[in-house]
Amino acid sequence: MASFTLTPLTDHTGAEVVGLDFRQRIDADTRASLNEAFVEHHVLVMRDQRFLPDDFKSAVQLFGELQPHDKEEHHVPGHPDVSYVSNDEFVNGRRIIPGETFHTDHSNHPCPPKATTLFAIELPSSGGDTQYVNMHDAYDDLPESTKQKIDRLKAVHAYLSKYSPRPLGHLSEESRRNLPPSGVHPLVRTHPENGRKALFLNPVRIESIVGMDDADALKLIDELMAHATQKKYEYRHKWRHGDWVLWDNRSVMHQANPDYDMNERRYLYRLMLKGEVPA
Ligand code: SIN
Repeated sequence: MASFTLTPLTDHTGAEVVGLDFRQRIDADTRASLNEAFVEHHVLVMRDQRFLPDDFKSAVQLFGELQPHDKEEHHVPGHPDVSYVSNDEFVNGRRIIPGETFHTDHSNHPCPPKATTLFAIELPSSGGDTQYVNMHDAYDDLPESTKQKIDRLKAVHAYLSKYSPRPLGHLSEESRRNLPPSGVHPLVRTHPENGRKALFLNPVRIESIVGMDDADALKLIDELMAHATQKKYEYRHKWRHGDWVLWDNRSVMHQANPDYDMNERRYLYRLMLKGEVPA
């Protein structure tokens, strides 16, 4: 097994991996340890990587099988299966920051991705952090009465909820045609590998809760979001060059920060890994 150090970044979420070059072959034992660390810590920060798009794609598959993005047209030039996030995207003449406001990825899918991952290519000189909140701890801390109320509720996740706090980037007609039917997911899901319950929320996509009127559903989602996004549940990632960050969408929500000089470019490769039906 290769030698590396694994250091927790908070007492609940995030761990740093130092000492591995993921362009080299990773043996089976090291791979198994990394996958265990991923499930335990929810966010892995692999330092000091030097990836070209194909290196990144190979390394990510140590953790699972790639899941294509809904915006099929939005990819690194010459690499149709490596997507990116950047701050140079405009909708109706206004800049949009993909990932601004807390969410979980592609929850409109019947089988949302288990993980999402970014590799930093260009970073602003300060700011542009990614925040993660631990949805297991947020669930565990809820009053019993709230747990009982929400344990059996299901939410409908559309591509873009009519109640979304923000727009999404442009989607081509072809990508729109290929969208799956809306996902209908429990508000509380159980992680298939660590066995812990977690809140499964996404105000960008949740359009309704089955059997509830919309006003009550929105109020409940607002209350749960206010609870889940408290600082005590957060790991805030300050990007460094060479960072490869992988997170577990079954355990955390995340958001990007637009708090930097928009004359500076922020550009990261982005991939997702296939997940299972939330249950
Ligand atoms: C995202 O995947 O939602 C974007 C996160 C980021 O750009 O920090």
